[in-house]
Amino acid sequence: MSMQGSMGRRSSADSVCSLLMLILISAVCPVAPSQETGPSPLQCSVSPNRRFDCVPEKCVSKEECEARGCCYSPAGDKGNIGQPWCFFPPSYPSYKMFNLTQTDRGYNATLKRSVGTFMPHDIMTLQLEVLFETESRLHFTIKDPAKKRYEVPIPTPQVSGKASSTLFDVQFSCDPFGLIIRRKSSGLILLNTTVAPLIFADQFLQISTSLPSGYLYGLGEHLTALNLSLQWNRLTFWNRDLRPSKDSNLYGSHPFYLSMEEGGQSHGVFLLNSNAMDVLLQEAPALTWRTTGGILDFYVFLGPEPKSVIRQYQDIIGYPFMPPYWSLGFHLCRWGYSTSNCTRQVVKNMRDAKIPLLFSLQDVQWNDIDYMDAMRDFTYDQNRFGDFPEMVKEFHQQGVKYIMILDPAISSSNTPGSYPPYDDGLKRGVFITDDEGKPLVGKVWPGLTVFPDFTMPETFSWWYDMVKLFHDQVPFDGIWIDMNEPSNFVQGSVDGCPNNELENPPYVPGVVGGSLRSTTICASSQQHLSSHYNLHNLYGLSEAVATHYALVKILKKRPFIISRSTFASHGHYAGHWTGDVVSSWEQIYYSVPAILLFNMFGVPMVGADICGFGGNTTEELCVRWSQLGAFYPFMRNHNDHDSVSQEPYVFSSEAQKAIKSALLIRYTLLPYLYTLFHKAHSSGETVARALFIEFPTDPNTWTIDRQYLWGEALLITPVLEQGKTTVNAYFPTGTWYAPESGTGIQSKGQWLMLPAPLDKINVHIRGGYILPAQVPGMNTEESRKNKLLLVVALTPDGVARGDLFWDDGVSLGTFERQDYTHVVFLAANNILLNELIRVNSQADGLKLGMVNVYGVPSPPKKVLINGIASEDYSYTLDTKVLIIKSLSLPIGQQFVITWTL
Ligand code: NOJ
Repeated sequence: MSMQGSMGRRSSADSVCSLLMLILISAVCPVAPSQETGPSPLQCSVSPNRRFDCVPEKCVSKEECEARGCCYSPAGDKGNIGQPWCFFPPSYPSYKMFNLTQTDRGYNATLKRSVGTFMPHDIMTLQLEVLFETESRLHFTIKDPAKKRYEVPIPTPQVSGKASSTLFDVQFSCDPFGLIIRRKSSGLILLNTTVAPLIFADQFLQISTSLPSGYLYGLGEHLTALNLSLQWNRLTFWNRDLRPSKDSNLYGSHPFYLSMEEGGQSHGVFLLNSNAMDVLLQEAPALTWRTTGGILDFYVFLGPEPKSVIRQYQDIIGYPFMPPYWSLGFHLCRWGYSTSNCTRQVVKNMRDAKIPLLFSLQDVQWNDIDYMDAMRDFTYDQNRFGDFPEMVKEFHQQGVKYIMILDPAISSSNTPGSYPPYDDGLKRGVFITDDEGKPLVGKVWPGLTVFPDFTMPETFSWWYDMVKLFHDQVPFDGIWIDMNEPSNFVQGSVDGCPNNELENPPYVPGVVGGSLRSTTICASSQQHLSSHYNLHNLYGLSEAVATHYALVKILKKRPFIISRSTFASHGHYAGHWTGDVVSSWEQIYYSVPAILLFNMFGVPMVGADICGFGGNTTEELCVRWSQLGAFYPFMRNHNDHDSVSQEPYVFSSEAQKAIKSALLIRYTLLPYLYTLFHKAHSSGETVARALFIEFPTDPNTWTIDRQYLWGEALLITPVLEQGKTTVNAYFPTGTWYAPESGTGIQSKGQWLMLPAPLDKINVHIRGGYILPAQVPGMNTEESRKNKLLLVVALTPDGVARGDLFWDDGVSLGTFERQDYTHVVFLAANNILLNELIRVNSQADGLKLGMVNVYGVPSPPKKVLINGIASEDYSYTLDTKVLIIKSLSLPIGQQFVITWTL
């Protein structure tokens, strides 16, 4: 495999650095600006990949470019933005650094620029603060020392001291100012911000850096491959309601990336900034952050393993919420279940569709906006959904949970006194206001609407009151929050938007529609904490936080919330689905990198609409998508109102059988999946995991995004192409077992073509691991009562290890209160035993019923259960599988199972 970019070479950084006076921490930078000398002649011989755009806001002529002091050279149009025609010469004025001083936490310095840039309101003096927060975390901020600017209001850890030793060192460049951050162990330069001038104007902040490789991941939400293209690629962050399409800003913003370094080490960078933003990637390799407000607030995570980088990022944004057990089941939804009876019929059809397999396996039924009266939140239509509360209660009796949609926009054109959510909200002043201080009016499903300001404490209590009143009538189990970018069917508001600097910033990132107000509310509208201009990207997050707290208070159980719009830290409160994906083979593929990236963003509860949302699915696509969806952490089939039906039961019995057998694998593995969610919640692990995260020293895995893992141990290889009955699968070095037969493949890190008929999704269990599983019942509630099964996948040396996290599946804070059971399973030397880390009463009824051991080299002479011989086992010579049956071993008590060879 060829290496992209200049992996491992330190050329981009070195060539620039050698021109600079680099100062290793000790400050010989001047303490005050010296007399400026006159401009030096333009030096334009910059190699094409290292050119940084000097006129990002428009197209210019040669004369205009040179009038800016930049170099003009027309070029091709590769990538989505093309190589810049007008670029900075190395001599372009930037900030210089003065007064570098050591502090208790790291370093401070002053940055000054003496010549303004092409952007209005340059801030000529800046404050740099560099914090050595932990051994593997560097935090630096660049702010205006004279005036407090907007900062993202999410809680982050505050560190008082300075790490005694670090994996990084920082070099400061005085003129031009720049930071050069290296990994001490390898000497590799991870960041070098001297590659282009720093610009810090009121509404235009730009900083560029070299990258150590072309292997870059993150920077969502966009429709991309897992490994981002560095070919003049622009990624725009401005949350927007848009059917996922390439080169477009989508529903969420996660300004975080992970970069792979040669040898399998990795680091990550997070820019904590919520303003409209572009990130530009080029093959130098280099990256430019270009944002339109706030401050520069960077975290650098040194890993060195990708897993550590992701955990270190989540140390900042918060670990994911622990989902209720039932939420791991199958969810069924569509826009168009237009009556309560129609919704009932869907659940009944799912139950009746037991043929050809005897399982229904639906856990959650959903309704879209159909249930509402005139599409207004917190109402239900008396004609079509008159018995809505009864319907939900019936579902509960059948063991089915219920979720309905809520949109943030509140209908504002009702007769006064007839719609309390609006009247009450108006009285309590909870709506976002326009420039005259009146609630800003837009248009969403119910017609004219206003938008709650979830950054205001009063809105939290108003939202709670509304949700509570509704829950008192309709005992729903979770909430689906949609349209929360926020989406608006008119541009800005029904009255347009004022003409001011927030509405017409000097630079508009590459947003679809060309304007910040496109499909949303006016940027200059006012919220409690700041302008919408600053807070827009936080709208979905703030609604998720308010909804989370409302549900905790109402249900007194774990909340389950799925949101369309997200921002960094969202996963702490809620999950996400990837929006209005079209039923196409292209979109089924893109759902894989999307799910993997959201796991890296700390939002493991994520899935795409199975079978696709927009357009008509086909039976084949829906079968393949259901097979893949059985391995999304969040598994929901959802459909548009005008598309053909796509519930599992509408398809041929062959297709139903294929869908159900994938569902059966999921339900069998729920104890393993739940344990993975616990690890996400307790230590920032990913649930759906890219191969490169698990096998970072194998560069073959660095671009794989058509396969992935659940945790460490389960490799999933879906079919993502039409008409295919085989699939090409990469097996990292090790043993991989096919669970249907138990046969193992020994891989040295190789690709294999696997049979993949329509009724099969390939999954493989990694040698060395033990997976807790359970015989499925009709739903998760029933499944949880069944006996456990352990799948023991031995290495050639005969060892394996795994664990189970178990609690009541619904209570709040079980891990934090230590009210759970955690059991480790170990296999070695033909012995399988459990180690009780913690046992609580929840594990009382839970028993181990069966053990499947893969990779047993020869027939056992005897099998002992806690020292007593058992006859109830079988061994298959050609597959080398030992199955021990009829067990009844309480999981919370120690057991030892031995097979003598
Ligand atoms: C847009 C959402 O993305 C989609 O899932 C939903 O069905 C419609 N809104 C209608 O509520």
